[in-house]
Amino acid sequence: MRETILVTGGAGFIGSNFILQRMEQDSCAVVNLDKLTYAGNLRNLETAANSSRYEFVHGDIGDVRLVRQLLRKHRPGAIVHFAAESHVDRSIRGPADFIATNINGTSALLEQARSYWSDLNESEQAQFRFLHVSTDEVYGSLGPDDPPFTERTPYAPNSPYAASKAASDHLVRAYHHTYGLPTLTTNCSNNYGRFQFPEKLIPLMILNAKAGKPLPVYGDGKNVRDWLYVEDHCVAIATVLRKGRPGETYNIGGWNQKPNLEIVELISNLVDEMVPGRGGSRRELITFVKDRPGHDRRYAMDTRKIERELGWRPKETFESGIRKTVRWYLEHEDWVRAVTSGSYRQWIETHYSV
Ligand code: NAD
Ligand code: TYD
Repeated sequence: MRETILVTGGAGFIGSNFILQRMEQDSCAVVNLDKLTYAGNLRNLETAANSSRYEFVHGDIGDVRLVRQLLRKHRPGAIVHFAAESHVDRSIRGPADFIATNINGTSALLEQARSYWSDLNESEQAQFRFLHVSTDEVYGSLGPDDPPFTERTPYAPNSPYAASKAASDHLVRAYHHTYGLPTLTTNCSNNYGRFQFPEKLIPLMILNAKAGKPLPVYGDGKNVRDWLYVEDHCVAIATVLRKGRPGETYNIGGWNQKPNLEIVELISNLVDEMVPGRGGSRRELITFVKDRPGHDRRYAMDTRKIERELGWRPKETFESGIRKTVRWYLEHEDWVRAVTSGSYRQWIETHYSV
């Protein structure tokens, strides 16, 4: 029997890359439950939309009746849970949506998953998986010489976003320990690639550089992130789903730590190369702006567990991945136009006006 996966938040950046990759590489069917917030975009999934193996359901993970009905109707063998509010800056301006979706929404979803799973027969129960997609930000901030985060690093979330994800990770852990639900948690570093909403560093800088607008670097630009190409992340999730041990957590990262300023300079150079003729480098657009409150200094992931136990390693180099990504945004003006609507412009005006 072909397996069905219930994906939540599949119209967002990572979820849509995951769905397209899995439908191409596996024979699974996918039900995509997404609320279509500002970050969800069905254009990402145009190539899957007509497949008999794909169904989109517009709804909230916290809608208990809807989720119960979906689980009973589609009888998925796995739930892959991406749905979240995901932008740190938005969580600083207003945490309520983060609490609602990341904590209460995950809690409601877990409860429905538990109820569905309890009614499965023994062999179905043993095979079922609830995979929770989380972040490195739950571990807090590293000093320049600290070793990277491992799965044993104590949680120390610093932003409302990170705190809400940490809470959801703890709920997932509790559902495994208390009820035996076969959960898996992945904590991943910063992703980049196609379909990322241009409020995040990399797509924002590409689009601003193209348009000749300022490139707003927070603080001194020396904050470090560990960048991972989104398709490598999706392969890692599929690997954990297939081979991960229930109840375990797995760190995922790119072994690719870079300060923000270096990323912005590299993007400026690539845009100069791909869209020549501006007269002067886009690096001149770099503008240091007020720092993010509580800005974590450095993230870095130790991914030896997933490498050793499940045989996953990232494939893409940063040099090739960032080049592909810059080219994708430059070549997909229609996608950019569709997502940079009124509400996007409003966010940019409010957030960068001081
Ligand atoms: P995103 O913001 O691009 O997409 C989130 C998706 O969830 C959107 O399609 C949105 O419509 C949907 N959604 C939001 N609230 C919902 C609700 N209540 N019910 C149903 N759908 C809802 O996020 P992303 O960057 O694709 O991140 C996906 C997951 O990966 C998140 O859980 C995030 O915390 C985690 N993560 C992201 C990164 C990263 O670099 N982007 C890194 C590590 C972990
Ligand atoms: P972001 O893409 O928001 O991801 P996260 O906060 O989850 O790591 O930001 C990545 C880094 O880039 C982070 O250190 C903040 C910084 N940043 C800027 O310097 N300027 C910007 O306009 C944005 C959006 C981010």
